[in-house]
Amino acid sequence: MKFKKNILCIGAGYVGGPTMAVIAAKCPQYKVTVVDINEKRIREWESENLPIYEPGLDDIVKMARGRNLFFSKEIEKGINEADIIFVSVNTPTKTFGQGAGRAADLQYWERTARQILANSDSGKIIVEKSTLPVRTAEAMEKILNLNQEKIGFEVVSNPEFLSEGTAVKDLEKPDRVLIGSRETEAGIKARKEIVEVYANWVPRERIIESNVWSAELSKLTANAFLAQRISSINSISALCEKTEADIDEVAYAVGTDSRIGNKFLKASVGFGGSCFKKDILNLVYICQNYGLYEVADYWESVVKINEWQEGRFVRNMLAGMFNTVAGKKITVFGFAFKANTGDIRESPAIYVTRGLLEERAMVVISDPKALENAKKDLEDVKEGVSFEKDPYRAAEGSHAIAILTEWDIYRDLDYERILQSMATPAFIFDGRNILDHKKLFKIGFNVFAIGKSPLKHF
Ligand code: UDX
Ligand code: UDX
Repeated sequence: MKFKKNILCIGAGYVGGPTMAVIAAKCPQYKVTVVDINEKRIREWESENLPIYEPGLDDIVKMARGRNLFFSKEIEKGINEADIIFVSVNTPTKTFGQGAGRAADLQYWERTARQILANSDSGKIIVEKSTLPVRTAEAMEKILNLNQEKIGFEVVSNPEFLSEGTAVKDLEKPDRVLIGSRETEAGIKARKEIVEVYANWVPRERIIESNVWSAELSKLTANAFLAQRISSINSISALCEKTEADIDEVAYAVGTDSRIGNKFLKASVGFGGSCFKKDILNLVYICQNYGLYEVADYWESVVKINEWQEGRFVRNMLAGMFNTVAGKKITVFGFAFKANTGDIRESPAIYVTRGLLEERAMVVISDPKALENAKKDLEDVKEGVSFEKDPYRAAEGSHAIAILTEWDIYRDLDYERILQSMATPAFIFDGRNILDHKKLFKIGFNVFAIGKSPLKHF
């Protein structure tokens, strides 16, 4: 079959895989190939067991795979044949040298640019899919245009906004798709080609076009704003605990103002996930580089409040349990950074668990999907931690339960049965405000929630 265009994606990760699967499913006229340096990952994408779990992903991959969706190890051949290349390699926070702990590590990114250059005989559109510092496209263009043969490359920014657990839905029905390019004739032509891909299923008014720098910066800004809302409500949760105001009531009252809106106002033990912290620190670093120290400090405070909220949770546990947890068994319900995923990257559960271990508690971790990842993360811990999937068994004999992920299963447990099996006095620390606190108090628990007055029997 003759395809209209060849699309290649470099990086078969969490972003590249689902995005390409949806493009292939919606656009049978394009041939979509996904490559990765990690050959095991490619084999998994070709198998029955995909390397990542997302609701709906299996079906669309099965539908398009072999028709116009291909996973391949041949990166160089893929580059050469492609008209459009999406780059979706990872851009972690730098762990060394200048900007360590804040700046984005662009080594994979630059290597990929050079690889594209070395294997291209014809002009291509390069699409930035990974989250990148604003003005990365400039560096990318400089590398690509080093070629002697005067092959033309256009760099376009098309950031992803998908959220784990709803990635397929976010791709099929996005709030918006953002496509930025240079505002030259060639830049606008390239931008239109990418618009044409998405217009196969996304309503035209939802496809936003902009200059390339705006597109790059909008991604970082969107994540910073989302995280800022969580830090804002979490900061107020601390004040609620001092004043008998109730954070859920405050969030509801505030969120019903249509100018504010009700999303991302759920107070919690803190936000986690691979993006928020990384992207904000990256934004902070960029601002510092431009000498915008006040702007940098403003955004950095969003991360600081989050770390403070995680620490505060541990301190509240300690204070609630008579200032000592040494030797006490504490059960953690939920280790994933949010419900419906096994992902634990930057999960507040990591921080809370380590904080409790420092206080010499015996921590039992329970989670329906994240136990393997939790074990890996806590590999260095020699004693004091164990893992038990079954929440009833996990809670047996413990002094306290800490809810750290909002999994539905934790709402519906038989807490009377759990209480019978626990040491007394029994405590629940609800880090996600998902339980019926009054009911738990009535049956005998001492209940501490985020942004609420504690319910204590003593
Ligand atoms: C993405 C984005 O790329 C990142 O910028 C954003 O902030 C978060 O989401 P993600 O898809 O989650 O990253 O990363 P990951 O699952 O680690 O996938 C990246 C893939 O790129 C890996 O499979 C890795 O093997 C591959 N890769 C990396 C290459 O193929 N070539 C390289 O040179 C480097
Ligand atoms: C986020 C962005 O939502 C997405 O657009 C971007 O592309 C990648 O980063 P993700 O990390 O998958 O997605 O998770 P998200 O649903 O945004 O949650 C992030 C963290 O915030 C989780 O730990 C979650 O529990 C927490 N959260 C979220 C709250 O504590 N309160 C809220 O009201 C919402």
